[in-house]
Amino acid sequence: MSIFDSVSLAPPDPIFGLDAAFNKDPRIHKVNFLVGVYRDEEGKTPVMQVVRKAEEAILQKEESKTYLPIDGNREFVWQIGKLVFGEEFWEKEHFRMCGVQTLGATGALRLFADFFKQENPNKVWVSSPTWLNHIAIFRRSGYEVEEYFYCEKGFLDFDRLVADLKKLPPKSLVILQPNSHNPTGMDLNESEWKILSQLFLKKQLFPFFDAAYHGFGRDLDKDLFGVRYFAEQGHEMAVAYSCSKNFGLYGERVGALFVLAFSAKFIENIRSQMKVLIRTNYSNPPKHGSFIVSEVLSSKNLKEEWREELEKIRKRMFVLRTNLAAALKICCPKIDFTFIENGVGLFSLFNLQEKQIKKLVDEYGIYLTKDGRMNLTGLNEKNFSYVLRAFSDLSLYE
Ligand SMILES: Cc1ncc(COP(=O)(O)O)c(C=O)c1O
Repeated sequence: MSIFDSVSLAPPDPIFGLDAAFNKDPRIHKVNFLVGVYRDEEGKTPVMQVVRKAEEAILQKEESKTYLPIDGNREFVWQIGKLVFGEEFWEKEHFRMCGVQTLGATGALRLFADFFKQENPNKVWVSSPTWLNHIAIFRRSGYEVEEYFYCEKGFLDFDRLVADLKKLPPKSLVILQPNSHNPTGMDLNESEWKILSQLFLKKQLFPFFDAAYHGFGRDLDKDLFGVRYFAEQGHEMAVAYSCSKNFGLYGERVGALFVLAFSAKFIENIRSQMKVLIRTNYSNPPKHGSFIVSEVLSSKNLKEEWREELEKIRKRMFVLRTNLAAALKICCPKIDFTFIENGVGLFSLFNLQEKQIKKLVDEYGIYLTKDGRMNLTGLNEKNFSYVLRAFSDLSLYE
């Protein structure tokens, strides 16, 4: 009799589980549209050149590998604060913000979920659809997860979104994605963010922005319009930030959490609670990734190089979207594929039936998630016509 007799087998992760199946698939023509990782024309996720340069500089300077403070690398948090909120706002208002380094945006989401639950009701609202891990993270922190309307069949319906949010009780915690929405790629425009800001103030809703794809949408400023506008309008709010995608630092686990309060007098208490949660979880965050990011962002030249590399990534996604939408329009003329060209970032959500997704996997070795989400950077010149042939064979949307 083992103490572990009662341990049951947990289901595989809906995305990484399929990725493991993809890796085992022996077919040479297989195509991976699964995990939210940028891939170049060669199908690779290379280390950014600017990251290599920063790493070399850090190696020269590093004197010790001693622990970081519980709340992380202060220079990193300072630089990310400027990047997220804009320099002017950050310099003026950082006194009423608590910023801490986290284990990616996932770590920031979980940290804030645990923090907020100590003080507030147990419900959280996420977009329908959303990144599947949002639901899992908040459930694991003990929340009931509810949904507000966002997109159907690839298209965003702002009126339905507003109608749903109007029904929420005061103090409701609402997750918002500022840009490159996962899984749909469809974002709110500036006037829609302004309307939402008024609604959140009027209904006293609490916005929690999950900024995982900063720079993957339109550009570094436009992408965070919603976050900055809300901050300027005086909301109390929180932001989870990821350096996984825009610095290509996925496995280094680098991110940050910012909590904005009405006044600086709340910050010490908030920070103290954050530190308890971090200390009792992983003690303090890892150094390497945060040093890379602060090295890049604190040097004018490296920052410029980073912007340029990011711009190339964004351009590739834009071209892929334009080409795919144009090609699909020819092979399936009755279907509206404008959601691909109107979307931004890694993902589009295809309105596919379960049997069609199964056919793509079983007959073609083309892997996408069960909800029909496709990471478009899995496409390249070599597999483009193969993927198109598979789509033509699906009798789409019948
Ligand atoms: C919407 C969203 N939030 C958060 C994350 C997590 O990012 P990180 O790697 O920084 O934990 C992802 C990653 O796929 C994501 O898509």
